[in-house]
Amino acid sequence: METLKALAMNRTTKNFLKKQISESDLQSVLQAGCSLPNKGIFDNLHLTVVQNPQTLGKIADAIKQAFNKPDMKPFYEAPTLILVSALKQKGLFPSAEYGNAACIIDNIHVAAVDIGLGSVNLWTFVNPIITLIDQLELPEDFVPIAGIGIGYPADPIEAEVHNKNKSLRINCNFIK
Ligand SMILES: Cc1cc2nc3c(=O)[nH]c(=O)nc-3n(C[C@H](O)[C@H](O)[C@H](O)COP(=O)(O)O)c2cc1C
Repeated sequence: METLKALAMNRTTKNFLKKQISESDLQSVLQAGCSLPNKGIFDNLHLTVVQNPQTLGKIADAIKQAFNKPDMKPFYEAPTLILVSALKQKGLFPSAEYGNAACIIDNIHVAAVDIGLGSVNLWTFVNPIITLIDQLELPEDFVPIAGIGIGYPADPIEAEVHNKNKSLRINCNFIK
């Protein structure tokens, strides 16, 4: 399996070609996003693919306004934006939707690099997008909680050289 190689290439793309991704690439990353081990409980999750330039522009404008940064490029001009929305759970597993969303986004991130796409994790839209919620055509009571911008990278993504002696980037303790 090439999964470890794809993970080693799991990094942010902020410079995209001005070309929409193919329908088959879109289906591949959506399939990957849906491949999360959560006991098949998908009713409280919803994905929205935004490729309409006007809608992308409106969302970007809302973010720029919210952050008071007119020159900001909130999606780095990625031609496809995938939003993960969730029905907020008040029951047994509070905040589980954020865990699911993180799994979905990272599956998409890794699958994207595997098929030659680049992607960027996005969160800045979460509050500003509420003003545009009607335009997202979401089921009732769903709110976007995570997102990812996708496109063909302008620069090739190289795998990090595998170094067995490399220290872990996140502090880790071991209880054996
Ligand atoms: C959950 C999550 C959400 C993020 N949201 C944004 C975002 O909205 N905008 C942004 O520029 N970077 C965001 N980032 C950070 C970028 O994805 C990226 O990791 C960061 O800009 C560093 O990129 P670089 O290593 O290429 O410099 C987010 C990262 C994570 C993990």
